[in-house]
Amino acid sequence: MTHHLRTVPTPAAVIDLERLKQNTRKMAARAHRLGVQLRPHVKTHKCVEAAQLQAEGHFGGLAVSTLAEADFFGQRGFDDITFAVPLAPGRAPLAAQVAARLRQLNLVVDHPTAVDAIGEEARRRGQTLSLLIKVDCGYHRAGLLPDDPNLVRLAQQIHSHTHLNLLGVLAHGGHSYECVGVQAIRVVAEQERNMAVNAAAHLRNANLPCPTVSVGSTPTMAVVEDLTGITEIRPGNYALFDHFQADIGSCTPEDIALSVISEVIGVYPERSTLLLDAGALALSKDPGATHVGKTPGFGRLCTLDGHPLEGLTLTDLSQEHGKVKGSDVSRFTIGDRLRILPHHSCLVTALHETLYVEQEGAIVDTWQPVRGWSIDDKAPKR
Ligand SMILES: Cc1ncc(COP(=O)(O)O)c(C=O)c1O
Repeated sequence: MTHHLRTVPTPAAVIDLERLKQNTRKMAARAHRLGVQLRPHVKTHKCVEAAQLQAEGHFGGLAVSTLAEADFFGQRGFDDITFAVPLAPGRAPLAAQVAARLRQLNLVVDHPTAVDAIGEEARRRGQTLSLLIKVDCGYHRAGLLPDDPNLVRLAQQIHSHTHLNLLGVLAHGGHSYECVGVQAIRVVAEQERNMAVNAAAHLRNANLPCPTVSVGSTPTMAVVEDLTGITEIRPGNYALFDHFQADIGSCTPEDIALSVISEVIGVYPERSTLLLDAGALALSKDPGATHVGKTPGFGRLCTLDGHPLEGLTLTDLSQEHGKVKGSDVSRFTIGDRLRILPHHSCLVTALHETLYVEQEGAIVDTWQPVRGWSIDDKAPKR
């Protein structure tokens, strides 16, 4: 059945194809201009069609956030994949299984126990597995600081293992999300670059290989102007952007390519509220860039054609209900449709079975994201 915005089953996650293409072209051109490979992170949508747009004009490598994504994209034409989360030692057998079906799977580590587990599994299977060392560039979520002597020790452990290949270092400037404005994001971008390059220098000074120096978050890569010493970047959210990115300054609201279409299911003028059929399972409960304070509530409410509805706030979400507070709610009736620009695209797309693709106001396609953390081991082997 063909749909348009007035008939698509709500709540519906809708991707604006022209905006997606514009965002992907812009980042691809930036990467070329700054002299780095683009390895887009595809956790933002988990769809093959969007990954193909992101990879266009680059070498075709992707970054993913689950082994399920690695396997899914690996079986669909993308055969150089970085699983950009430190591997749990207990997942080494699954990672090796996925790697056996790809040309190149790169794993991330920051601890000798993980290296031991991966090395042991590789030896047992007679495989060689490639590892990147996670560098903490100031986000303090994972990784080793460039000056930590354990960085070189870990690299030596990998390099001396018969079944492991030391690929280099990987950093993620996730603390860019705490910034307000382009100048502040550029400071984090330079810190991300500088610390990754320093880590690489420590490895090279110890006569260890470090061909890959990988960095990237969407805020930093959207505004960075110098990537000297970096070989590849891994932004992901930029494909769709969201209101968080717009609020901190890494995009404009007009760049946001994902929205959720929701129907009004209750109108209560006596208490100045509306009820929508989009709750936490359609929007997530991400409160957005609260440190900026520009977009209160759980997303920006707009008309179906995308004009912001000033004076209305999506104040509360329960599982399948969204409560809107504001002035003049009696202008709405049950069955009206609104468009919500979400705070966090990656979480929203992960909640929807199907992503609807919109072009010039019409739904022109549907995309199916990969789900879960494990793999379908009946998929073809190579
Ligand atoms: C290790 C790593 N690299 C790259 C990215 C992509 O960053 P962004 O979501 O800001 O595009 C993420 C996102 O969480 C990440 O964890």
